[in-house]
Formats: sequence, structure tokens, C-alpha cells
Amino acid sequence: MRERPFAMEIFVVPDASGTGAVAAGILAAVIRSKPDAVLGVATGSSPLPVYAALAEHQLDMSRVQAFALDEYVGLAAGHPQSYAEVVRSEVTERLGLDPALVSVPDGVAEDPHHAAALYDAAIRAAGGVDVQILGIGHNGHIAFNEPGSGLDSRTRVEFLAGRTRQANARYFRSIDDVPTQCITQGLGTIREARHLLMVVNGADKAEILAAALHGPVSPECPASVLQLHPHVTVVADEAAAGLLGVKLGQVAVRVATPSA
Ligand code: F6R
Repeated sequence: MRERPFAMEIFVVPDASGTGAVAAGILAAVIRSKPDAVLGVATGSSPLPVYAALAEHQLDMSRVQAFALDEYVGLAAGHPQSYAEVVRSEVTERLGLDPALVSVPDGVAEDPHHAAALYDAAIRAAGGVDVQILGIGHNGHIAFNEPGSGLDSRTRVEFLAGRTRQANARYFRSIDDVPTQCITQGLGTIREARHLLMVVNGADKAEILAAALHGPVSPECPASVLQLHPHVTVVADEAAAGLLGVKLGQVAVRVATPSA
């Protein structure tokens, strides 16, 4: 049984730059109507076209607040592959955010567990996230909630799955340099955002995207929690949407009400 009614919009566009344009349009509309909006920002390759397209809108984003989804444990903020660094260059600087309003979990905190709890509390203290940008991992992870993560989990220290370390090795000299642990927002934390905006590119994500949106809601596919959220937008390129039954140029809106 679903917890509550939900609506999910799916936009299918030709390519990654199209996903950026559509998602940036949604974010721009939110920021125009709420200049001090709280954004949840993802790293990785999927949201890069979104940030590039949002920069084109030339909005005043100086009052926008942002919280990153995750950070590697052991990488200091200045490390080129730390998410703090990626957020600084791709989000804060590119979009003109005030660095004082941008938060990333502290990957080198003396007590990372405490840092994770403080981070979770800071999101709540900010009034929660208005729009959370998400990518999806090949194993269905969102943020670094790997398969097996609790659907109500909070921000915490976790181990990265082997598949995730392999996928992210492309940013490091070798897989041995990819950290083994992270601080990640939990699935419960992410679900508290008022709007989830997932961006997905490439045929290699088609199977997991279909499993997340159409398969059972289960910790084995963490992204399946999208099905429990009342306001979800998925923006996918044609290749990633290949198994969704939604064609290029179509916008699908799925609305479900609780079933017994
Ligand atoms: C990044 C994050 C991850 C990525 C996912 C997809 O902050 O939380 O869940 O969104 O690994 O990564 P890409 O977009 O590089 O395929």
C-alpha cells in the first residue's frame, strides 16, 4: 500500500543538454518565486548540464541556500575530488551563490558520525529543502544510500559499494584512491525535501531507472523511495528513458492514490 497519494512527472528529452535545460527551467521558476529557496545539490556527471543551463538564466542567486547530498570521508574540502570542491566550482561559483549559504558534510571531521547528525539537523533548521536535485547510481543508489539502506535513514556515515567506487574511479588516478566511506544524507532526510528532481542520462541507466520507478519499493533499490514521495519530477534523456514506456517529446504524469 502506498503511504499517500503521489504525482510523478516524467519529461523525456533527446540528450543530456536537454535534461539540463528542462531541469534548470524548473529550478529557475522556483528561485524566481522564492529567491531564498533551499536547494539540495547533487554532484556526479548527471547534474552538470543542469548547473550549466541554470547559469544561463542569469538569476540573482545570492540568497539561495544549498545543501550537498554527500561527501567522501577522508577528503578535505580543497581536494580536487572532494564534493566540497565540486560544489564550490560547479554550483557556488558558477551560479553566484553566497559561499556562507552553501553546506557540504564535513568529510574530515574528527567525529564524522557527529558531523553527520549536525548536518541533518542543519537541513531541518534551514526549514528543509525546497527542491532536491538527484542522480541515480547503477545500483539504484541516491546520494550514497547504497542497496540495503533504510527507507527512513538519516544523514550518516556509510561504506561505498564496490560498484560505486568502480564508477567513481574515473575521477581518481586509480580505484585504490577512491575513499571507502562517505557521509550521506539518508533516504528519510531526502524524502523530507518538498520536491525531488531526478536527472538521468544514458542507456546504462535505463534498467535501474525503470526498476526504481516501476519496481517494488525496497531498500534493495534505494531510488524506489521516489514512489513514496508526493512531488517527483524525473527528467531523462531518450536513452535513459528507454524502458519507461514514455516516448521522446512526451510528458507523462502519473498520479496514484492509496490502494488498500
Ligand atoms: C552525487 C550522488 C550520487 C550520484 C550518482 C550518479 O552527489 O549523490 O548518488 O548522483 O552516483 O552519478 P552520475 O551522475 O555521475 O552518474
